[in-house]
Amino acid sequence: MEDQISRGLEGVAVAETRLSYIDGDAGELVIGGFPVEELAPNAAYEESVFLLLHDRLPDAEELDAFRADLAARRGVGGEVQQVLRQAAAEDEPAMDALRMGVAAANLGHDDGGDADPETQARRAIAVLPTIVATYWRYRQGKDPVEPREDLRHAANYLYMLTGEEPGDAAARGLETYLNSVVDHGLNASTFSARVVVSTESDLVSAATAAVGTLKGPLHGGAPGPALEMLREVHASDDPEGYVREKLDAGERLMGFGHRVYRTRDPRAAVLEAAAERFYGADGDTEFFGTVRSFEDIAVDLLAEHKPDRTLETNVEFYTAVLLDGVDVPRELFTTTFAISRVGGWMAHALEQREDNRLIRPVSRYVGDTGRSWTPAAER
Ligand code: COA
Repeated sequence: MEDQISRGLEGVAVAETRLSYIDGDAGELVIGGFPVEELAPNAAYEESVFLLLHDRLPDAEELDAFRADLAARRGVGGEVQQVLRQAAAEDEPAMDALRMGVAAANLGHDDGGDADPETQARRAIAVLPTIVATYWRYRQGKDPVEPREDLRHAANYLYMLTGEEPGDAAARGLETYLNSVVDHGLNASTFSARVVVSTESDLVSAATAAVGTLKGPLHGGAPGPALEMLREVHASDDPEGYVREKLDAGERLMGFGHRVYRTRDPRAAVLEAAAERFYGADGDTEFFGTVRSFEDIAVDLLAEHKPDRTLETNVEFYTAVLLDGVDVPRELFTTTFAISRVGGWMAHALEQREDNRLIRPVSRYVGDTGRSWTPAAER
């Protein structure tokens, strides 16, 4: 066993989960027992989170109570605002500010590492949008907007970014996004959260570690560049020329290809439909037209470029289009991903606690042995 190294743990199962299931060959994603296509456009984000935490949908009364509980946990104190003001003043990227904010969020609150685990989970889920929006307001040289308890999770996030209540189409578009990416098997950030909890550490620490993991460009960073690409293509009006130029230069097209899916990412279809509804109701239909034709051209040219590899549209392509449409600033795309995924992180952390075994793999030693000590002055 120790002779075999599984770099990147590809294909190694280290946990059982009831939270989500991915069939990369068939292009299927099941979240809490529901196909993503059914859950994402119908659920409130709070319903998706309840589903993950309790393995069933809430009834109407439970949903009201759960919403009210999360809404009551949205506030951050002056100490956290100070951290975020400083992060904004020093031009720290949004994910760094979020990491600092999550780590500090329980100052002045009694739902931190000492609270029971589900309370810690609810607090983390409730507070992430406030941290991101508070940082963003400071970045804009504006005062933070206090959360509103009467707005749903997604609508309240958009409201805190701008100070204006969003329209139904934008709130629903964002909510569909939050539901689509709330959980996705044992991805790197979720694994980090499980590792932290496996040491019997607390869920606030797990959320902080997970934010740090999501920050890396191999995990959560593609939608920003995908949006830039689409804007460039829209301005040039020459999608085919753009794709050929990139592929001839050996560059990758953002928003295409996936480590697990060998088909179109099922979340792409959900987000495409959500973007279509949004752009149809309220958006720049010309830009959306460019996006659609660019996708077809890119998939065809990628097939020509790599005939033995299926390079299809991944989740980030329509994420970029939808988040831009509902006016989430490009700089906040990855933090908005975290605002959703924290639901999955916390559900995995609780699941890990239910049947815990310390996660402690081994490494193969390839260094020297048998060295003998010489004092520093004699080296
Ligand atoms: N555009 C152009 N070529 C691509 C490509 C893309 N988006 N994705 C993969 N390829 C090519 C690679 O260059 C590689 O070619 P090579 O064999 O000549 O080196 C081949 O396809 C296989 O790539 P590989 O890196 O093994 O695929 P992977 O499964 O490990 O990578 C991604 C998956 C997501 C990292 C990769 O597809 C990618 O970089 N996509 C663009 C970034 C992106 O959209 N990320 C968000 C993912 S949700």
